Amino acid sequence: MHENTKEITGIILKAKEKAIKETSREPEPELTKPINWPVDCVVGPGLEGAIACETRIGYVNGSKGWLVYRGYNIFDLCAYGTYEEVSYLLMYGYLPSNTQLTRFKKKLIEYRTAHQTKRLLMGFPIEKMKPMGALRLGTNLMRQEFTDVDRDKYLSNVARIIAADEDSIPMETTPMGEENAIYEFKRQQREDSIKEDLKHATGFESCFHLLSGVASLTGAIARLRCGQMPIEHDPELSFAGNLIYTMTGKKPTPVEERVMDVSLILHADHGMNASTFASMVVASTLSDVYLSVGAGIAALQGPLHGGANERVIEMLKDIGSEENVPAWFEKKRSKKEKIMGFGHRVYKSYDPRARVLSPLAKYMTKENKKSKKLYRIARTLEKEVIKTLGAEKKIFPNVDFYSGIVYASMGIPSDLFTPIFAVSRVAGWTSRVQEYLRKNRIFRPRAMYIGPFDKEFPPIENRGRTKKS
Ligand code: CMC
Repeated sequence: MHENTKEITGIILKAKEKAIKETSREPEPELTKPINWPVDCVVGPGLEGAIACETRIGYVNGSKGWLVYRGYNIFDLCAYGTYEEVSYLLMYGYLPSNTQLTRFKKKLIEYRTAHQTKRLLMGFPIEKMKPMGALRLGTNLMRQEFTDVDRDKYLSNVARIIAADEDSIPMETTPMGEENAIYEFKRQQREDSIKEDLKHATGFESCFHLLSGVASLTGAIARLRCGQMPIEHDPELSFAGNLIYTMTGKKPTPVEERVMDVSLILHADHGMNASTFASMVVASTLSDVYLSVGAGIAALQGPLHGGANERVIEMLKDIGSEENVPAWFEKKRSKKEKIMGFGHRVYKSYDPRARVLSPLAKYMTKENKKSKKLYRIARTLEKEVIKTLGAEKKIFPNVDFYSGIVYASMGIPSDLFTPIFAVSRVAGWTSRVQEYLRKNRIFRPRAMYIGPFDKEFPPIENRGRTKKS
């Protein structure tokens, strides 16, 4: 381990110590036991409190501020683990041995190239798209590259039309015409080279393909949007190191690589959040894991979810100085506007991820005047918010409050912050989709209909006069 990265471990363990001091250790017994369906629970708007399934993957205790993956607390995973190990843990349920980890990393490297998908992506105006939109597109292209699902349908239809006109071709021998026969032959050849699991696009292999592919595409998108060519990953660097390198074109320092690794671990999974739920809903229809991850990306980009990290940096720049914080905050509070990077549906205490990211942001900005200023504004704002909203409504900083400052200190532009969140969360999305599919039941809640009945259908000329309801 590099000397300076030991300091990072020290920072994490200090955050753990503080968390232990401030929180008690018993889990919530009512939320950590097998379910006897149907289950009684109190459900609020936005499905608050609704129990949708059992899981062994992760646990969030909002009142105490704990985050646990597969039984391990988040602080130990950050202090002693790597993102590759944590992804393996989430997916398989246990930490890998040396041999298992080596094999797993080899697989991730194999999938990292994604040449064909990157080439396809370059056919789109990436520089005019928001990176999250481009990432969603790229995920779809990965699916197409490996499964050919969409292309099958299209070509068969064309071939069917051709076949309908070709009376001269005997139906028994070439039912869909010569073009289709050639296509089918080529498809067969292509399929032979695709791993069994990838063909149906729902298995573990597809999950690993996505884990590496989404990271690789994020690097490519970061470059393409600046008019530069994607760069090849460096086999000497870790998953986290390559993410920084392929996005910025700059080899990360050991500290930057380690801090990015910690951040990826912190974001890898987080209960039934909106994007995880969106992925699971798509998977529950027996769609495929590429489209599930695409749904996760779509949900994550919103400012109430993963999109908040980008907004935090804009907000801190807008505040401008520590002195401006009280007046700025009072104005927002009087207008009842939300402060980005604060509050959480589950955490009604300090988010353990922010406990780690806050001191890391301090550490990373200590040498840089500009980012140090942003950090100082953030700390002052945190104090103001906790003093008022913390006391009144249990609102504390969440994971998005300090992550942007950390990424900005590495020279990463702010519209890539949410894609980095997505890269990490692929581990959680795919693990939970795989777990849910084992006992799958299609998601189908109800809405309470509160509209009218027995309305008469009006002729079109009368409609402007009827009242809207
Ligand atoms: N600033 C000011 N007031 C807030 C905030 C905030 N950031 N968050 C919640 N409140 C208030 C809200 O106004 C409401 O007050 P009242 O009861 O007087 O009307 C109360 O707290 C409950 O808020 P809510 O919006 O009903 O809470 P929710 O559980 O539906 O929403 C949330 C959770 C994260 C969407 C919300 O806290 C929020 O919009 N935060 C800002 C955006 C943000 O930072 N998102 C990142 C979330 S963490 C990363 C992730 O997992 O996605």
